[in-house]
Parts: sequence; C-alpha cells; structure tokens
Amino acid sequence: MKGRILRCSLATIVAALAVWGVIAVHNWNARRAKVLERRAELERLGLPGDGTSDFVPLPAILPHNATAARIGADLFIDRRLARASRRTCASCHWLNMGGADGKMHAGRLTRPFVNVALATRFLGDGSLTNIADVVALMIEDGNFAGGGTLGDVAARLAADEPLAARFEAAYSSPPSAASVVDAIAQYSRTLLSAGRPFDRSFGGDLNALAAPEREGMDLFRRRGCLKCHDGPGLGGTKVHDGRKVSALRGLGQRNVYLSGKCTDIGAVLVYMPAGELDENERAAFVAFLKSL
Ligand code: HEC
Ligand code: HEC
Repeated sequence: MKGRILRCSLATIVAALAVWGVIAVHNWNARRAKVLERRAELERLGLPGDGTSDFVPLPAILPHNATAARIGADLFIDRRLARASRRTCASCHWLNMGGADGKMHAGRLTRPFVNVALATRFLGDGSLTNIADVVALMIEDGNFAGGGTLGDVAARLAADEPLAARFEAAYSSPPSAASVVDAIAQYSRTLLSAGRPFDRSFGGDLNALAAPEREGMDLFRRRGCLKCHDGPGLGGTKVHDGRKVSALRGLGQRNVYLSGKCTDIGAVLVYMPAGELDENERAAFVAFLKSL
C-alpha cells in the first residue's frame, strides 16, 4: 500500500516536472523571440541596446543622409510647399513643443513631428505605415499644407537654381516628387527628443530621475502599459481600437493629449487600463510620463 502511494506520488512529481519543463522551455523561447525582435528593431533604427531592456535611451540623431536632411529642414519652413495657404509644416508642427501645436485642424489634433522617425504607424487612426505617404499627404491635402500635387511642388522648387543644385548634390537629380518627400523624411531622423531626464538616467546620472519618476517607470512596466506603448518611442508602432497607440517619448514637451480629449496628463490615465491607482501612484505615473 505504502509503496504504491510512493510510486503514485513519484509518478505525479515526474509528470509535474515534465509539464513544468515544457512550459519553462516555451516561456524561454517566447522571451528569446521577443528579445531578438527588439534587437532587430534597434539595429534597424541604429539605436543602442541589446534588446533585453524594455527602455532604451534616444540618441540625438538616427542614421540619415545629411545633405538631404539639410534640404528637408529648409523645406519644413518653405511656403512654396503650401502655395496659396501660405502655411509651412512648421505652422502646425512647432518644434519647441515636441513638433505639435496642441491644436485641432480639420477635426484632428496635430501629431508630433519630433520622434516620428521611430514610428511605423502614422495619423490618428494609424492608417498609414510609411512616412513618405504621410509627408506626401501633408503637402498635397488642403487641410494641411495644401500645395497641389507633389509634381507641381517639385516643379516650383526646380525653378530655384541654387536649391535644384542642392538636390543634385544629394540625389544626383533635380527635385522630384520622391526626393522632396525623402528630404523631409531624412530631416525627421534628426529630430529626436534626446536628453530628457529619462534619457539622462541611462547615462549614469542617477539623480536624473526623482524617486516618484522611478516609481512611475516601475508602475508603467507592471501595469502592462508596454503591451501597447512599446519600442524606443514607447508607442507609435501599433493600432488599438482604430486609434494609433501614441508614442509617449517627448510627452513632457506637449500639452494636449489623447487626440484632443485632455490637457492634463493625469486625466489621460482614466482612459488607459491603469487599474486602481491611489494618489501616490497617480502622481508617480504623471511624474514619469512628464520625464519622457
Ligand atoms: C494645418 C496644420 C498642418 C500642417 C500645415 C502640416 N501638418 Fe502634419 N499634421 C497635422 C495634423 C492635424 C496631423 C494629424 C493628422 C491625423 O491624425 O490624421 C498631422 C500629422 C503629421 C504626421 C504624422 C505624425 C504621426 O505620428 O502620425 C507627419 C509626419 C506630419 N504631419 C508631417 C508634416 C509635414 C512634413 C508637413 C509639411 C509638408 C506638415 N505635416 C504640415 C497638421 C499639419
Ligand atoms: C491596449 C493598448 C494600450 C495600453 C495597454 C495602454 N495604452 Fe495608452 N494609449 C493607447 C492608445 C490607442 C492611445 C491613443 C488614443 C487616442 O489617441 O485616442 C493611447 C494614449 C496614451 C496617452 C496619451 C498620449 C498622447 O500624446 O496623447 C498616454 C499618456 C498613455 N496612453 C499612457 C498609458 C499608460 C500610462 C498606460 C499603462 C497604464 C497605457 N497608456 C496603456 C493604447 C494603450
């Protein structure tokens, strides 16, 4: 009797160990796949990090074509892109506010131009996946710059000889629809919100993040925010319920959130699956989000 019980429990233990082993291997593989995916993404962007950390510091700049980016910087404030509206990209994308103006245009909140090179989903509904298509839309659409077709814009720019010569230097051809768009996309790669307290904390500056900010960082991880707000931009790569998951990097430089619904970061948390929060936890979340 005793021997059978012993054999039975032994069999149970062996079976349990086997199941545990299978689960452990499965989890390890899943974690490994996630790390490799993150590492590939960082390499693609030319960012530091080995893929094991959920958070990475932003460098000042991503790999880019410098001659083209300088043209892009000038186009960003060039009225010839807009023609009649006399707007420029910078009329709505204020670089001193994270690349947004906090205002609605045609019912849509301006989305930040700073850090946009880290994103793979664009516009409030995340419907575009290629920055070139977004820039083309911004130039052509009357709600934004409204400059006519890209072909017209390129022709107007080609008439400016010194500018055409700069295009020749960068692209070995005069301004074209593709190079006008690419120059602005290259420029976006020079606009990252590096040097925020969050970034400085990685550089060994232990005092860069105050205790509540660190507590908020921990809550961010534990409350599952990373499920949607992931990657170096902490968002910008996914769509949830028909809305682009906003990139949270650079949030501390903006003042209107959630597609125009909130002007207070604390109020945003009500719309996010943060779970029950006491006053300290809410303050920690807000402090962390402002440090980004
Ligand atoms: C009249 C204001 C206005 C002008 C001018 C304007 N934009 Fe925008 N921009 C917006 C708004 C509003 C959105 C968000 C649109 C949406 O959610 O559908 C946006 C979105 C974007 C995005 C996508 C950001 C993201 O995270 O999805 C990029 C990139 C962009 N604009 C670049 C430009 C460039 C380049 C120019 C100049 C050619 C320009 N914009 C001109 C208002 C403007
Ligand atoms: C299920 C996916 C998902 C999860 C999980 C999630 N978010 Fe979001 N978050 C979104 C989406 C989608 C938006 C954009 C909504 C919109 O613009 O209408 C957003 C927007 C935000 C914004 C506003 C950003 C801006 O610039 O407007 C903040 C702040 C934010 N989330 C914080 C958090 C925090 C903190 C957590 C964890 C408690 C969290 N989110 C968890 C999907 C998610």
